[in-house]
Amino acid sequence: MVNMNCLKIAFLLYTWLLGHISAISLSNRAGGTGNFQAYAYGDGIGGLPVFSTGFTVYIGNSTSINSSDAAPVIFTKSSTNLTSNPNTTASSSSTPSWSNLLFAIPAPSSPTHTVALVSPTNITTDTVTSGFTFYGHFIFVSESGSLQSLFYALPTDTDDVWSLNWNSTSDETAGKVLVSLRDVMPSNGGDVVE
Ligand SMILES: *[C@@H]1O[C@H](CO)[C@@H](O)[C@H](O)[C@H]1NC(C)=O
Ligand SMILES: *[C@@H]1O[C@H](CO)[C@@H](O)[C@H](O)[C@H]1NC(C)=O
Ligand SMILES: *[C@@H]1O[C@H](CO)[C@@H](O)[C@H](O)[C@H]1NC(C)=O
Ligand SMILES: *[C@@H]1O[C@H](CO)[C@@H](O)[C@H](O)[C@H]1NC(C)=O
Ligand SMILES: *[C@@H]1O[C@H](CO)[C@@H](O)[C@H](O)[C@H]1NC(C)=O
Ligand SMILES: *[C@@H]1O[C@H](CO)[C@@H](O)[C@H](O)[C@H]1NC(C)=O
Repeated sequence: MVNMNCLKIAFLLYTWLLGHISAISLSNRAGGTGNFQAYAYGDGIGGLPVFSTGFTVYIGNSTSINSSDAAPVIFTKSSTNLTSNPNTTASSSSTPSWSNLLFAIPAPSSPTHTVALVSPTNITTDTVTSGFTFYGHFIFVSESGSLQSLFYALPTDTDDVWSLNWNSTSDETAGKVLVSLRDVMPSNGGDVVE
């Protein structure tokens, strides 16, 4: 009997500690606070910054695209929305003409795969602009009760610049690379690693 009680107390102490330890490590790992840039990681993609020209979302160096609207995206998480603004410090001399857009993925029923920045006043049923959440530093989307990360990159005509897409199911385009998005910069500054 004494042994059983000791075991019980040890077990309770153990579960209490487990609960607190995981709570502590989760809070240390929390992502998505304040203003942040997002970086894509995948096979051959070692943490390239997410950038945009005001609609299409790319990963790579925004200066590679010849557009005065191209700039890395600064995200601000508000509830489960990701408000998007250009990082004018990091863009070329000109100032992008877009601001205060919402990061959007296509809805499950949508025929498109394009991840885009959309105006809060131009949201269609084809577009999902909420449900963004962090697990550690990884961006997930909470849809139908589960956390999903279905981001993938497709090569563009510009070297080392990829377009960002969602849900590769039924996309037969060659050169797809599954990527995860994190709010942490790679330690090497974001080179393409082959
Ligand atoms: C992007 O490219 C420009 C021009 O080649 C370069 O000066 C800049 O350092 C690059 N930025 C990053 C984050 O690699
Ligand atoms: C970049 O765009 C400007 C203006 O549209 C054009 O004059 C220039 O030739 C373009 N440069 C490249 C390398 O495409
Ligand atoms: C999030 O975006 C939706 C539109 O998709 C808007 O109705 C809602 O007010 C936004 N919430 C916040 C907290 O910005
Ligand atoms: C914006 O870009 C500058 C220059 O690359 C960088 O120092 C800064 O951290 C970026 N801002 C955010 C919120 O990431
Ligand atoms: C992914 O695409 C397939 C086929 O179009 C669709 O059935 C599925 O619901 C989509 N999943 C998500 C999470 O968007
Ligand atoms: C509204 O969004 C659609 C794509 O979802 C885009 O083609 C269209 O240009 C947008 N319209 C405005 C006024 O932003």
